[in-house]
Amino acid sequence: MKVLVIGPGGREHAIVRSLLADPYVREVHAAPGNAGIAELVPTHEVAAEDPAAVTELAQRLGSDLVVIGPEAPLVAGVSDALREAGIAVFGPSKAAAELEGSKAFAKQIMAAANVPTAMCRVATTAEEVAEALDAFGAPYVVKDDGLAAGKGVVVTPDRDEALSHAQTCFDAGGSVVIEEFLEGPEVSLFVISDGRRAIPLVPAQDFKRIYDDDAGPNTGGMGAYTPLNWAPPGLVDEVMARVAQPTIDEMAGRGTPFVGVLFCGLALTSRGVRVIEFNVRFGDPETQAVLARLKTPLGRLLLNAAKGELDTDEQLTWSSKSAVAVVVAAENYPESPRKGDPIGGLGEVDALDGVHVIHAGTKLEDGRIVSAGGRVLSVVALGRSLEEARDKAYDGVGRISLVGSQHRTDIGTKAARGEIVVPPLRTGAVPVVGAQP
Ligand code: AMP
Ligand code: GLY
Repeated sequence: MKVLVIGPGGREHAIVRSLLADPYVREVHAAPGNAGIAELVPTHEVAAEDPAAVTELAQRLGSDLVVIGPEAPLVAGVSDALREAGIAVFGPSKAAAELEGSKAFAKQIMAAANVPTAMCRVATTAEEVAEALDAFGAPYVVKDDGLAAGKGVVVTPDRDEALSHAQTCFDAGGSVVIEEFLEGPEVSLFVISDGRRAIPLVPAQDFKRIYDDDAGPNTGGMGAYTPLNWAPPGLVDEVMARVAQPTIDEMAGRGTPFVGVLFCGLALTSRGVRVIEFNVRFGDPETQAVLARLKTPLGRLLLNAAKGELDTDEQLTWSSKSAVAVVVAAENYPESPRKGDPIGGLGEVDALDGVHVIHAGTKLEDGRIVSAGGRVLSVVALGRSLEEARDKAYDGVGRISLVGSQHRTDIGTKAARGEIVVPPLRTGAVPVVGAQP
């Protein structure tokens, strides 16, 4: 099978790497890719958000399957154009991608499907914002309703900061969603769906804030690890039964089936599992850690989903090892990342046992690999324990040289120390499902 992977980042590098390990996959191409992807497979220039351009490229390459990495092409309808051209595509239609494209839409679906999530209000004026903030109380959660690459959310105890974030969203022509604050550890679970059936991957945890101890602004994600040694038994089954399958059923019932990966961002609260957000694509950097453990051939799994032929009896096989991904970001990320600096140590890291580099914002310039984005790369390591994987990943990070670069030093640390506590379920708690306060 010939596969074309669309996207420029670390997630796509990790997907390409896994596809190349799949015996059913004969050829992989990527567009636009990055310097790391280009070392593995042919890459092509393409306007990734242009449905006609991506379809033309897939036809020219004779692709049997197109895997769309990022959300923007999905929201732009790239998968619809590919499907119309008769090409199998892993990634939801424009209509189904609204689960990520509009937080208000996602809330409507969750309410209709009885999926537990934070109480929320949509606001379009400063007065509505103030009212909603006061109804929920601090800490305040204000979300840009549209796509914001993980950076549109402000969680703050400061009412003025919450108000001013909402104003920024309004000034950009958007609306906001104000939510109750969900307290409890976060989990990312990727669920592969063929439109009707679904198979979960293993849960992972991401680190959204830029600095150690979850300080500073939100980013696209600064690191991830899997498995979660602290997750309650039955968590995945519960999320499948209460969140993923009802959502997939609701989308199918509306005539907009969800084909692709439903990324369930969850909080484990004292009232049970709550959805923080849906994404309609693999998470970055969770994918780097999750796919490092997947033994089942990825290409065939994604093709089966794309064709509506997912075999839910098939057990995915996983390495029993732990995987840790640590993101190395550019100076000044997430505000205004510095770009164009040479990156050293890449070969040295790849030569370490059980450690590899996944490129994100990198490009080849005059024969050198230079930084070209906010999150530049991640170092991914497998270990027999979380501690070992983390030590190996940080050994690798220490060998990377990039002027001004930053990384978190605490990816997986709390879990390794047994410091993550899932709050005990409050007795008699009434589940709140997408309701207004
Ligand atoms: P999102 O882009 O919706 O995933 O939000 C980014 C991050 O903000 C999440 O990973 C959480 O850490 C945090 N967050 C979002 N919504 C809430 C909420 N209702 N309560 C607490 N934290 C939240
Ligand atoms: N790491 C979170 C995301 O991909 O949105």
